[in-house]
Parts: sequence; C-alpha cells; structure tokens
Amino acid sequence: MVKRIVPFCLAAVMVFAFLLPAFSQMDMTVLSDPAFGEGQRPPAVFEHDAHNEKAELFDCAVCHHYYEDGEKVEGMDSIGMPCSDCHPADPGSDELGLMEAYHTQCIDCHEQEGQGPLACGECHVK
Ligand code: HEC
Ligand code: HEC
Ligand code: HEC
Ligand code: HEC
Repeated sequence: MVKRIVPFCLAAVMVFAFLLPAFSQMDMTVLSDPAFGEGQRPPAVFEHDAHNEKAELFDCAVCHHYYEDGEKVEGMDSIGMPCSDCHPADPGSDELGLMEAYHTQCIDCHEQEGQGPLACGECHVK
C-alpha cells in the first residue's frame, strides 16, 4: 500500500511543482482592468499570489468560478479567462456588470472575514 502511495505522491508533487510557475501571478500587484478603458479610479491594490497566500485561498475557483447556462459548475474554474469575458463593463439590466462583479467578490469576502480593505481609498490607492 505505502509503496504504491509514495510514487503517486511524488508524481503529484512533481506535476504541481511543474505547473505552478506557469500559473504564478507573482508579478501582479494591482488590478487595472483594460475593459474599463480610461477608468476613473487609480488601479486597485491586489498582489495576487501574496494576497491569496495570506488569505489562505487555495481554491482558485473561489474567484475564478465557471458558469454554464447560468449555473455555477463545481469543480471547474475559469483560470485564463478574464472576468470581463462574462461580466461586461457596460452591462444590460439583467447582467452582473464588471465593476459590481469585482466589488461584490472582493468586498463581500472582506466583510465576511472581518479582514481586508472595505473603503474606496484603501483599494484604489493614489
Ligand atoms: C476591496 C477593494 C475595493 C474597494 C473597497 C473598492 N474597489 Fe473599486 N474596484 C476594485 C477592483 C478590483 C476593480 C476592478 C479593477 C480596476 O480597478 O480596474 C474596481 C473598479 C472600480 C471602478 C471601475 C474602474 C475605474 O477606475 O473606473 C470604479 C469607478 C470603482 N472601482 C470605484 C470604487 C468606489 C467609488 C469605491 C468605494 C465606494 C470602491 N471602488 C471600492 C476594488 C475595490
Ligand atoms: C481572491 C481572488 C482570486 C483567487 C483566489 C485567485 N485569483 Fe487568479 N486572478 C484574480 C483576478 C481578479 C485576476 C484578474 C482577472 C482579469 O484580469 O480579468 C486574476 C488573474 C489570474 C490569471 C491571469 C489570467 C486570467 O485568468 O485572467 C491567472 C493565470 C490566475 N489568476 C491564476 C490563478 C490560480 C492558478 C489561482 C489558484 C491557485 C488563482 N488565480 C486564485 C483573482 C483571484
Ligand atoms: C465563464 C464566465 C464567468 C467568468 C470568467 C467569471 N464569472 Fe462571475 N459569474 C458568471 C455568471 C454567469 C454569474 C451569475 C450571475 C449572472 O447572471 O451574471 C456570475 C456571478 C458572479 C458573482 C455573484 C455571485 C457570486 O458567485 O458571488 C460575482 C461577485 C462574480 N461573478 C464575480 C466575478 C469575478 C470577479 C470574476 C473574475 C475573477 C468572474 N466573476 C469571472 C460568469 C463568470
Ligand atoms: C474569499 C475571500 C477574499 C476575496 C475574494 C478577496 N479577499 Fe482580499 N483579503 C482577504 C483576507 C482574509 C485578507 C486579510 C489577509 C491577511 O492580511 O491576513 C485580505 C486582504 C486584502 C488586502 C490587504 C493587503 C493584502 O494583500 O493582504 C487587499 C489590498 C485586498 N485584500 C484586496 C482584494 C481585492 C482587490 C480583491 C478582489 C479582486 C480581494 N481582495 C478578494 C480575503 C479575500
């Protein structure tokens, strides 16, 4: 049993170590979504990898969720797809617009956790 598990774990670790750098967003320090065009506010502070480590967010789909026919698909994620692919910057009345999508995702969690910024100027830092 152990003999079979060990190589499996090793293989899993190797695959992980190989894939992780490809997905790493170490360079991302702010969000300034080009879909907003000029934008009214300074970019929002978001050090992707450091933030997610501190907040212990290891399930990528918490933010990169995937939907099909209006239903969230558990076990799937939308890594590689910008939020703006599904949340338009200029939404129709029945759509969740891009700004609301970002604000709801970021602020709801900060409120629930009692941690992380809630005020405009704490995210959109001049
Ligand atoms: C938890 C962080 C956070 C807080 C708090 C927050 N925002 Fe944002 N906001 C974002 C993110 C992330 C985006 C999308 C990325 C970007 O800035 O382009 C965004 C986008 C925007 C945009 C559209 C892009 C632009 O610059 O025109 C506006 C306008 C905006 N926010 C205004 C506000 C205002 C006003 C408040 C306070 C009432 C606020 N935000 C609070 C994170 C935040
Ligand atoms: C707290 C929310 C959050 C978590 C958790 C998160 N991300 Fe992201 N990630 C974002 C946001 C926001 C963007 C910018 C999206 C955009 O530009 O439309 C982004 C962008 C990316 C990008 C750039 C390409 C793209 O999809 O737009 C990659 C790759 C990525 N994330 C991978 C990951 C991986 C892998 C994980 C899990 C280990 C993860 N993310 C977890 C919020 C998150
Ligand atoms: C594959 C398409 C798709 C992508 C990519 C996507 N979303 Fe969504 N999202 C949806 C759909 C569909 C809904 C259901 C609400 C609606 O009708 O718009 C939704 C709902 C939401 C909600 C409200 C429900 C909830 O789960 O909290 C928020 C907030 C949200 N998205 C934020 C984001 C952010 C931020 C990103 C990028 C990190 C993102 N979404 C990427 C399709 C997507
Ligand atoms: C699922 C929960 C969750 C989501 C979603 C989330 N955050 Fe956070 N965020 C946290 C927690 C928890 C902390 C406090 C982490 C700590 O300092 O220990 C935090 C802290 C922060 C901080 C303080 C500095 C730092 O990096 O620790 C910033 C800035 C921030 N979040 C921005 C954002 C933005 C912008 C988004 C949306 C794109 C977002 N967060 C989405 C949970 C979340």
